[in-house]
Amino acid sequence: MKIRNICCIGAGYVGGPTMAVIALKCPNIKITVVDINKDRIDAWNGPLKTLPVFEPGLSEVVKKTRGQNLFFSTNIDLAIKNSEMIFMAVNTPTKTKGEGAGMAADLRYFEASARHIAKVAKKEKIIVEKSTLPVRTAEKIKEILVNEGNGVHFEILSNPEFLAEGTAIKDLFKSDRVLIGGDQTSTGEKAIKALVDIYSSWIPRNKILTTNVWSSELAKLASNAMLAQRISSINSFSALCEKTGADIDELSKAIGMDHRIGPHFLKASVGFGGSCFQKDILNLVYLCKYYGLNEVAEYWHQVVKINDYQKERFSKMIIDHFEGDLSAKKITLLGWAFKQKTNDTRESASIYVADYLLKNNAEIHIYDPMVSDKKIHSDIIYLWDNKKMKITEKTKLLNNIKVHDNISSSLIDSDAVAILTEWEEFESYDWNDLLHSRETFKIFDGRNILKKKYNNSSITFLG
Ligand code: NAD
Ligand code: UGA
Repeated sequence: MKIRNICCIGAGYVGGPTMAVIALKCPNIKITVVDINKDRIDAWNGPLKTLPVFEPGLSEVVKKTRGQNLFFSTNIDLAIKNSEMIFMAVNTPTKTKGEGAGMAADLRYFEASARHIAKVAKKEKIIVEKSTLPVRTAEKIKEILVNEGNGVHFEILSNPEFLAEGTAIKDLFKSDRVLIGGDQTSTGEKAIKALVDIYSSWIPRNKILTTNVWSSELAKLASNAMLAQRISSINSFSALCEKTGADIDELSKAIGMDHRIGPHFLKASVGFGGSCFQKDILNLVYLCKYYGLNEVAEYWHQVVKINDYQKERFSKMIIDHFEGDLSAKKITLLGWAFKQKTNDTRESASIYVADYLLKNNAEIHIYDPMVSDKKIHSDIIYLWDNKKMKITEKTKLLNNIKVHDNISSSLIDSDAVAILTEWEEFESYDWNDLLHSRETFKIFDGRNILKKKYNNSSITFLG
């Protein structure tokens, strides 16, 4: 089956960049990316400088494809009708209410888009699960499509996305692997082939792995769990280094030089953030418990618990330095994005560090080169709303947050700086003046980015 028209439901961090790259590599396929969020679609159709997702190289790809064979629209019905293949790339956050709240994946957006497809589709379609999902979701989706559809045939494939934010375009151009799970039936195999043909336009065939649907769905959760586990492992060692005089960066290097372990994902930090690691591991924990595998569930849960411990431990370093009282202290937080080269702040460690410090009476001044004042405020309010914080308390703490649009103003009269995102700007900043002119000034480097250049007792490093 030759695919000529693709629809992608969900114009977010995954839907936008992945479809832009497919459009670039497959100029004969028309791709329409749809979303219920009109502002997001307007932004995708707007100036290249203000696309809703910031990713190095993305605007160049969009510039070449938009209006040629890549379109962004809110007309979901039309895009479904006109396509032979539909990618589902909607958000699958952690459930906040009902059975499994705080652990299980909230599939309401995914199920709503399946219902939308069922209602509108009058011809057979290949449905591609792009979102990260609990293993065996395809079964549930098939049920919706069959029970609520118009009697047409749907073939369901799992094709999880492995891109990392900040390097999305690079990752999509040169994926380590593309994973496609499908049914081993004749229609299933035809659908798998149709998707393999698309990716083979630029991905070498030996990097395209085909499996059954369940292996593919589970491989995504397992991959994220294994990556996050490495970070929690190295962060747990950072605590032990601090007690023993070992150096965490030397330790990472020594461990990573073993080719069986490898050097990646061994950088100690204030804790991993991002929209996926925590939610995917909690989802895995929930699944294991559902299947009665309590020991397995506990093993993976520990990865998230160590991450929470690391964020708290880092915040305590600052609080302890000021002997437990941050009142009248001005602390500058550098970095709000969950990693460099992205404007995404979901689950960023900065949000939690800010919360700890504010609750210990600090006045905090924040600067991030890519994140707006409005976004920073909405992130912290979202956290407090989830914790059901009283309005009076919220108002009091909000008065102690000031957001800056440049590093210099955020540092005026600062008692201490916490580096939370590894932006190059923070690494290359000349810290000598501040370190020498203010006797009590302290830097807490939550990313160990100043270690190479500075050997100064006023800087506290991890491990
Ligand atoms: P996102 O929140 O940035 O985008 C999802 C989009 O889906 C939103 O714009 C939302 O409005 C839209 N949407 C929700 N319900 C809809 C509906 N019924 N109809 C049309 N549009 C709808 O999320 P994301 O970061 O792109 O992640 C999407 C999925 O991909 C998640 O399952 C995530 O776990 C997975 N994933 C994300 C990344 C990443 O780097 N962000 C990487 C790999 C996998
Ligand atoms: C991660 C995975 O790397 C992707 O493969 C996956 O597709 C994606 O999740 C997803 O499913 O959403 P992402 O969260 O975008 O990608 O970014 P990472 O580079 O993995 O970083 C995640 C967090 O871990 C960041 O806060 C980063 O600073 C932190 N990190 C990373 C460390 O603290 N130490 C490291 O050595 C590496």
